[in-house]
Amino acid sequence: MSNRYDTIFEEIENKILELIVKAKVLDELVDIRNKYLSKKGEFSVLMNKIREVEDKKAFGESYNLARKKIETRLSEKIAEFQKFALNEQLKSQMIDITLPGINQESGKMNPFFKVKREIEDIFIGMGYTVENGPEVDSDRYVFELLNIPKDHPARDMQDTLYIDDNLLLRSHTSSVQAHVMEKAKGKPIKIICPGKTFRRDDDDMTHSHQFAQVEGLVIDKNINLGNLKATLELFAKKMFSKDAKIRFRSSYFPFTEPSVEVDVSCFACKGKGCSVCKGSGWIEILGAGMVHPNVLKMSGYDPEIYSGYAFGIGIERVAMLRYGIDDIRRFYQSDIRFIEEFNKKVED
Ligand code: DAH
Repeated sequence: MSNRYDTIFEEIENKILELIVKAKVLDELVDIRNKYLSKKGEFSVLMNKIREVEDKKAFGESYNLARKKIETRLSEKIAEFQKFALNEQLKSQMIDITLPGINQESGKMNPFFKVKREIEDIFIGMGYTVENGPEVDSDRYVFELLNIPKDHPARDMQDTLYIDDNLLLRSHTSSVQAHVMEKAKGKPIKIICPGKTFRRDDDDMTHSHQFAQVEGLVIDKNINLGNLKATLELFAKKMFSKDAKIRFRSSYFPFTEPSVEVDVSCFACKGKGCSVCKGSGWIEILGAGMVHPNVLKMSGYDPEIYSGYAFGIGIERVAMLRYGIDDIRRFYQSDIRFIEEFNKKVED
């Protein structure tokens, strides 16, 4: 519907519509709205002319029609720009799922920890629980309660690192035996304790001032050497090979009587004799024995009623045999090539 006042608005209306068409960015449209349609905008102020005109209704209609047209075009164009901006943003954030991914190298386990876990698993499977004990311990637990009194020559076998006259870095995990017995208060025991040990050794291919052992201790009624042998044979079969055999050689440890050195049949040559077993067909793997009556007595067990066995396994030694590692120092050097090489061997 047109009326005689339309011409008043025509020129400015066309000008604004043209500016809208030409606008290239959103800001320009905002500027147009401010300049012409705000309260004191160049278009808005035309309404003031209503005072001077005769037919105020027709003037108002004309004004509203023109304003509506401008506003509609402006909103349409603003919406168009916003849609475009959104699309651009989405495009820039698009992920191409067909691109190849970035490979993350997964960590590999040091053979030491593999073997430690395997040993734990084997004994847990036989009903043992895993205990811990202090790495810095007193003379009483590392020596006295294990039947190694002061000035006993056996102390020389384990020259260790003292912190003061009484405290020292434990030279073997056997020290945990007395702690566990103290806690068990005369009840049966079936534990292993894996952990670090320390000795004042020179570091060479087979020695390190720090290494690790797994101590085993079983105390109950009617425990005998046969139980110890069966346990260690099962361990050897699971750890080294299905047809592994073990043999006991008599030995001496102050805390066990009788004491034995345990050999496993060479898994490399099946006992025929090779470089791994130095021709003998047997490899020494651990020390063990029946818990000495003095040790039982000192920790509150009556040796007339209770008996027990104990053993100590060197973790690095087992790992070196198992994986053909020639130098104990390799375990501690954090050389990633060693770990990778070792992991390759295991997967083969
Ligand atoms: N403690 C011994 C060592 O470090 C190993 C050992 C031998 C542990 C005989 C035992 C055992 O429990 O019965 O050389």
